[in-house]
Formats: sequence, C-alpha cells, structure tokens
Amino acid sequence: MIINSARFEISNSTHSRCPQGMRHEYAFIGRSNVGKSSLINMLTGNSKLAKTSSTPGKTLLINHFLVNGEWYIVDLPGYGFAMRGKQQREQLETMIKGYILGREQMTNLFVLIDSRHEPMKIDIEFFNWLGENGVPFAIVFTKLDKLGNDAGRRKVQKYCNKLLESWEELPPVFLTSSEDGRGKEELLDYIEQLNKL
Ligand code: GTP
Ligand code: MG
Repeated sequence: MIINSARFEISNSTHSRCPQGMRHEYAFIGRSNVGKSSLINMLTGNSKLAKTSSTPGKTLLINHFLVNGEWYIVDLPGYGFAMRGKQQREQLETMIKGYILGREQMTNLFVLIDSRHEPMKIDIEFFNWLGENGVPFAIVFTKLDKLGNDAGRRKVQKYCNKLLESWEELPPVFLTSSEDGRGKEELLDYIEQLNKL
C-alpha cells in the first residue's frame, strides 16, 4: 500500500472522545521508548508526524492520525514507565486499557518489542491480558538495525520459541527498523488486507 497523506487529527485522554465513525484503526503499543512513534513516522514517511524522544514517556495521550483520508493510525503512550509516579502510571494504564477494550473501531493492535531484549514479564503479562480479552494483535520487533542480520533473526526466533512454550500458535510477527525502513512494506500490506475486511 502506498501512503499519500497522513495528518494528525486529535489527541484524547479517553477513548470515549476519540473520532466518531467506523473507519478502520490500527494502534501501536509497547513499553516506553520501544519505538512506537518512530515506527509510525517510518510507516507514513513523515519523520515529524508523531513526536519522538530518547527520553521515555514522550507520548502521554491517545493520538489519532488520518491516513490516506481513510483509516487511522493511533499512537499510544508506553506502558510500565517507572520514572513516573505510581498515580500517573495507573492513570495511563486505565486510559490504555479503556481504549483497547472500548474502541470498537480498533481493527488490530501492534505490540512493539525491542528486538535486543529478552522476554520481559511486563510484556508477557500484557500479551496474556490481550489473549484473555480476545484482542486481535500482532507482534512487531523494533530496532533491528541495532543487531546484525543473523543476530537479529536469531534473537527474534528465540523470543518466539519462548512464547511457544506456553502458546499454541504465534500471532503475526514483523521485524522492523525505523532507521532503515525494514518491515515497512510487510506492515502496510498487512494493514491493507485488514482494511478490506
Ligand atoms: P514513548 O512515547 O516515550 O513511550 O516512546 P516510543 O515508544 O514512542 O519511542 P520513540 O519512537 O519516541 O523512540 C524512542 C527512542 O528510540 C528514540 O531515541 C528513537 O530515535 C529511537 N528509535 C526508535 N526506533 C528506532 C529504530 O528502529 N532504530 C534505532 N536505532 N533507534 C530507534
Ligand atoms: Mg511515543
């Protein structure tokens, strides 16, 4: 799929105020600093669309971007950011979970994992929560440019094998880098297929 236009539409702190209508919507989630906003910019070919930062906790609202005038990309805050106080962490969690469970238009959730990291409890618990709630999701490994080609593939395979110890099958898996554009076509093709449903 070719992206001709992508523009910011609105930020919200609760899903009930998000855009009306039944456009397909794809949200990006994952731990703080995993590369959600950067991936959105890479996919849309606009490095300034979503705000990124090397300091975790940059995105704090539900951000809607209208793509090709037809469907939405949604940038969400990261989860598990320890530097913020407990109260703000809990507020963010309520906002994120409210959005995920309450947003009918969300066709698929992309859960980002830093490809350099071993499986972490917080991510596994989040995957399990999605499974228990029947949320459709795919796993997107990020920052593959930081590993060699073989090392990257091996690391991802190891991560997936670990998941398969307790899961019967894997959701769709994507290998990406916002630095070198890896995975862009695959992700956009996947979204294009889902848009047709
Ligand atoms: P929060 O909004 O704070 O939760 O973070 P985020 O998940 O949106 O991460 P963001 O896109 O802001 O990126 C965090 C940092 O990682 C920035 O310094 C990015 O430049 C860097 N980064 C993101 N993606 C990549 C990537 O694919 N490769 C490399 N090398 N760096 C990346
Ligand atoms: Mg962000």
